[in-house]
Amino acid sequence: MKLCVALDLKTRKENLTIVEKLGGLDLWFKIGLRSFIAEGWDFVKEVRIKSGAPIFLDLKLCDIPNTTADAALGIADRGVEMFNLHASAGVRTMETTMNRLSVLKKRPIVLAVTALTSFSDDEFMEIYNKPIETAAIEMARFAYGAGLDGAVCSVYESKAIKAANDDRFLTLCPGVRFEGGKANDQSRVATPQIASEARCDFIVMGRPILLASDPRAAVLKALSVFC
Ligand code: C5P
Repeated sequence: MKLCVALDLKTRKENLTIVEKLGGLDLWFKIGLRSFIAEGWDFVKEVRIKSGAPIFLDLKLCDIPNTTADAALGIADRGVEMFNLHASAGVRTMETTMNRLSVLKKRPIVLAVTALTSFSDDEFMEIYNKPIETAAIEMARFAYGAGLDGAVCSVYESKAIKAANDDRFLTLCPGVRFEGGKANDQSRVATPQIASEARCDFIVMGRPILLASDPRAAVLKALSVFC
């Protein structure tokens, strides 16, 4: 299992201070919409240079096949190690994207977002008219069929997604909290220990690390359960 630290603080300076504090640790950095929209590719480059760590660009692409595939190629050209798109963009979008990336000698890991971990069962039902687990497993199956490398899902769907596809199909799970920690806007939360038992390949932690009085100690605490 690997830990992705979400660089979701408000300013470039605050995020880079976190990167500095976490220097030398075996982790990934996740750059999401908030930091990317505010700071762009220069920020991605700066995080890479300062940390030497692999980058997960969490932009959750969701568009028609041609646009998503072009955007994916643009992301791959920048050399990030992993990015994602929404499975709900559809099988044709996922297949077109993977085809377009197939011309590259080396491509990033591509993940499909299934159900956002902020959804409660009721909220999810309202939009998708299906229980979360059923939909997440279905979306992951489409992503696997389209040639993607893995799925973004909650810790609670990780095992079932692997069982329905392939053990090597990656799961990346946000919504991870220390025992007794605040859930914030997340709904389906789990501890790093439970994530490890659920055989998640990656966990994402933002606020439990960013807002800790000692972010480095918080990362070491999370890493201590890793096998
Ligand atoms: O602060 P917290 O640990 O909740 O941060 C979770 C991070 O993971 C945020 O950057 C959020 O955008 C991202 N994420 C998520 N659920 C997904 C995909 C990404 O929470 N399904």
